Amino acid sequence: MADLPVQDLRRNYQTGSLLEADAPAAPLPLFRTWFDAALKSGTPEPNAMTLATVDSRGRPRARTVLLKGIEDSGLVFYTNYDSEKGHELSRAPACSLCFWWPTLERQVRVCGLVERISAAESDAYFASRPRPSKLGAIASDQSRVVPNREALERRFAAVDAEYAHREIPRPPHWGGYRVRPDEFEFWQGRANRMHDRLRYRLLDGRGNWSRERLSP
Ligand SMILES: Cc1cc2nc3c(=O)[nH]c(=O)nc-3n(C[C@H](O)[C@H](O)[C@H](O)COP(=O)(O)O)c2cc1C
Repeated sequence: MADLPVQDLRRNYQTGSLLEADAPAAPLPLFRTWFDAALKSGTPEPNAMTLATVDSRGRPRARTVLLKGIEDSGLVFYTNYDSEKGHELSRAPACSLCFWWPTLERQVRVCGLVERISAAESDAYFASRPRPSKLGAIASDQSRVVPNREALERRFAAVDAEYAHREIPRPPHWGGYRVRPDEFEFWQGRANRMHDRLRYRLLDGRGNWSRERLSP
């Protein structure tokens, strides 16, 4: 294949701005406002976010997960506690999240400590999921090597049959994490690469945040 024209891909961002006058003293209200705008903007899967964790050798590892809760206490996502990311979060319970909303030319980065949500909260969310998603959570040993596609499909069919006439309980290895943010960065693309960046850092346990403008 001929060289792909990667180096010629560029876009001049000019959709919006982020000025101090538009930025509240704490970051969560601004995150909610931006998330709502992303929902309305037609950006596909606005709740998809990159989740970066650190492995036992200190190497960062990133993958996409879906944001499923925006709470005053933190941001919630769901996964398999026995997955690679689950083991990484057990060893090093901190992460970085990154959202990219292209239609708005906005990025949001979040850092914080991570904790498991309660079993009751995970149960409630699991119960709300469609049946095939519940079966998938039981059938998949997420991040483990499988011999082939057929083995996965056999396993799904077996779980499907096992629960044909029964409620599907949440498997204990599946549940939610809450990221308790201590840093947010809001990035708004601007013309000529002179983007707006506002960073918030948690100052204390009373919910006071610093707010600084960073050079693009
Ligand atoms: C758009 C998108 C959304 C995803 N959402 C989730 C999710 O909410 N939870 C999850 O465990 N994996 C999700 N995945 C799959 C993960 O990216 C990843 O493949 C999986 O969690 C295994 O990661 P690990 O081996 O690092 O633990 C999603 C992938 C994509 C592309």
